Amino acid sequence: MLETKILIVSPVNPERNIINFAAEVLHLGGLVAFPTETVYGLGADAFNPDAVKKVFEAKGRPADNPLIVHIAEYDQLEELTDHIPQVGKILAEAFWPGPLTLVVKSSKFVPDVITAGLETVAIRMPDNKVALELIKALNSPIVGPSANISGRPSPTLAQHVYDDLNGKINLILDAGPTHIGLESTVMDVSTQPPLILRFGGLVRERIEQLIGEVQTSNDEKMLRRSPGTMHRHYSPEAKVVLIERGDTLAFEQLYKKYSDEGKKVGFIVYSITVSSIIKSSYGKIIPNDIENYSRLLFQMLRDLDKLEIDVILVESVEEKGLGKAMMDRLTKASHQ
Ligand code: TXA
Ligand code: MG
Repeated sequence: MLETKILIVSPVNPERNIINFAAEVLHLGGLVAFPTETVYGLGADAFNPDAVKKVFEAKGRPADNPLIVHIAEYDQLEELTDHIPQVGKILAEAFWPGPLTLVVKSSKFVPDVITAGLETVAIRMPDNKVALELIKALNSPIVGPSANISGRPSPTLAQHVYDDLNGKINLILDAGPTHIGLESTVMDVSTQPPLILRFGGLVRERIEQLIGEVQTSNDEKMLRRSPGTMHRHYSPEAKVVLIERGDTLAFEQLYKKYSDEGKKVGFIVYSITVSSIIKSSYGKIIPNDIENYSRLLFQMLRDLDKLEIDVILVESVEEKGLGKAMMDRLTKASHQ
C-alpha cells in the first residue's frame, strides 16, 4: 500500500511548489492524479514504461486498452508522431487545448505499453492550467486515463479519485470539480475519412462545422480500433434503467415495480414529474440544462452508489450535442 497524499491546488494560479513537487513524483516514476477540464486523469511519465505499467495495475485496466498521452505544447507532438494529417492539424488548431483527443500514427519512440501494441497513439492537450503546468514542469508528456478503477464512472472530483485509488497512487492534485464532467471526444485522423471513436466533451456539430461530415464508429470492426469502447464502462454498482424523456408514467410504473420487488430505488430526472412520495426517497432532480446534467452525471451516479441503491432510474436526453456523449455513457452503464 502506498500512502496517497492529497494536495489542494489553485485551478487559476497553480502554486509553483505544488506543481514542482508533483512533477518530481512523476519524474521518479510515481503516479499523480491531476485535474483536466473533462475528468480527473491518472498521470505517469509517458516515456517511463515501468511507470505507465503501474497505471494499468492501479486501475485494474486490461493491457489491451491503450492510453491517451497529454501534451502541453505543440513541440511535444514531434516525439510522439512523425505525421499529423492536415485534418488533424486543423482540428488541433481549432480545439486545443480542449476536450478533443486525436488518434494518429505513433512514432517509434512511444512505448508499446501506452498504445497496447497498436500503430497509432491518442494525444490531447487538456484545457486546464494545473495539467498544463504539470506537463511543462516534468518537461515530458504524461499518460492520463481517467483516474477511476476500470469500469467505474470517471472521477469529476478529487474525492472520487481517492475513493477508487487510495493506497494505489502517490498523489492527488485537488483543483475542485472538473468543468465538463464527461471525457474527451476521441477522433481517429490516421485514416480517411476521419472517424469519431468516442463521443465526448467536444460535440460532433462543432467538428462538422469545421471539417464537414465525419464518420462514427458504430460497427464492430471500427470499434476494434478503439479497444476501450468495448470494455464495460461507466458503471455504478447499482443497475441503471433508462426512461424516455418526459415519460412520467413509465417512471412511476418502474419505480413501483422495483420497489415492490423490495429494491432500493433512486432516480435522476429533469423533466419527469416526481410525486411527493417518490421525491422523499433517493433521487436527484436537476435543472433541464444539458451542460449541468453532463457535469454532474458521474457524480450523481457515485453519490447514489454510496447510498447503496439497487436500481437507478435515469431520464434520457436527446442524442444531440453533449446529449450524444451522455447517452453513450448511460446506455453502456445500463447494459451490465
Ligand atoms: O477526457 C479524457 O479523455 C480523459 C482525461 C483524463 O484526459 N481521459 C480518458 O482516458 O478518458 P481513458 O483512458 O479513460 O479513455 C481513453 C480512450 C479509450 O476508449 C481508449 O481505448 C481510447 O481512448 N484510445 C487510446 N488510444 C487509442 C488508440 N491508439 N486508438 C484508438 N483508441 C484509443
Ligand atoms: Mg476511462
